[in-house]
Amino acid sequence: MNDTFLRACRNETTEYTPIWIMRQAGRYQPEYRKIREKYSLVEICKHPEVCAEVTLLPVQQLKVDAAIIFSDIMVPLDGMGISFEIKENIGPVIQNPIKSIKDIDRIHDFDANIINYTGTAISMLRRELTVPLIGFSGAPFTLASYLIEGGPSKNFIKTKTMMYSNPDDWHLLMNKLANGMFEYLKYQVEAGAQALQVFDSWVGNLTPDDYTTYILPHMKALFIQLKTLNVPVIHFGFNASHLLELIQQAGGDVIGIDWKTDIKEARERLNDSSRVIKSTKEHTYTHKLFSMTEQEYTKTFPILQGNLDPVVLFAPQNIIEEKTKKILDSIPQQGHIFNLGHGILPNTDVAKVQDLVEFVHQYKRN
Ligand code: CP3
Repeated sequence: MNDTFLRACRNETTEYTPIWIMRQAGRYQPEYRKIREKYSLVEICKHPEVCAEVTLLPVQQLKVDAAIIFSDIMVPLDGMGISFEIKENIGPVIQNPIKSIKDIDRIHDFDANIINYTGTAISMLRRELTVPLIGFSGAPFTLASYLIEGGPSKNFIKTKTMMYSNPDDWHLLMNKLANGMFEYLKYQVEAGAQALQVFDSWVGNLTPDDYTTYILPHMKALFIQLKTLNVPVIHFGFNASHLLELIQQAGGDVIGIDWKTDIKEARERLNDSSRVIKSTKEHTYTHKLFSMTEQEYTKTFPILQGNLDPVVLFAPQNIIEEKTKKILDSIPQQGHIFNLGHGILPNTDVAKVQDLVEFVHQYKRN
């Protein structure tokens, strides 16, 4: 069993920097495209043996240090009574977008029985895998944006309008989604997922002020509950450099850094805001009527994941290596999981990804 990835998530020393790739199973792989000729994306998810096969593809082909269950952030919504479609080159589409409280009321608690194929695929995979398996979900804001806009959005006008005009409805929707995603993530861990990632892909479209008011309480509630599952949780926000400290405050054992952010700067910024109490000494002065608590702080560095620009994989080999080295040299090996700074793109050359994995594995080998 190669547990390098899990060790890195726990800030333990590792022999080399582990690497996996967001969206590592997908259209850039000829084998995936072949399977897609027979099955739609949702059909792959609904056939556990096909789902397991697709999940294993990048592990065998790329030699990455973790597998991520093949699914989509929309899949668990089926288990809450929301129907959707995933359209090629567009993304998730909702037939009846949420407009009012009546639509929010129709969303029910997450029912794992409706999507039990995911759990079946996870258990099957655990029997075969020699690397850890990551489960995942979308974050409430990202999911809410699809539900309200009815599909992908540029300016999130409908979403923000609900947020500002009907904050009670908004908070109710976020609360339902946060609870649903907790139940879905718990279900994945019970089936065998050994780590989790929460994708907040579109949250970067909010100001820090709005994140604090409309998102943070729900994310905190989600991450507090996730702690009870005792697996490492990665929190990834895309385009979210301006929200990094807030994302860290929300929770997560590992913070995913997008490709637009300088990872060294991210580490320094999060270091300052992630001091933990090392010891607490209680001083009681019996001759005076007061007691004092003295706290000693340890500066802990955040555990980071990231953050090569996915488009760099289209560059010549020497440029890919130079940019990869720059990331690896800019922060210590301990507490770093290498990844792209967003999902891998459809036309990426598989050979270049294989070289990247090999390069990362060799560069800082002890
Ligand atoms: O990493 C993996 O191997 C697991 C696979 C995975 C998929 N979706 C499968 C998929 C993961 C982790 C996701 C998460 C996801 N889905 C996110 C968060 C990650 C991110 O990139 O920010 C988001 C925002 C979605 C919504 C979604 N689904 C989009 C935007 C698209 C792309 C539409 C397109 O055709 O370009 C999808 C479809 C989708 N989900 C594909 C895959 C492999 C595209 C390929 C296909 O249609 O077969």
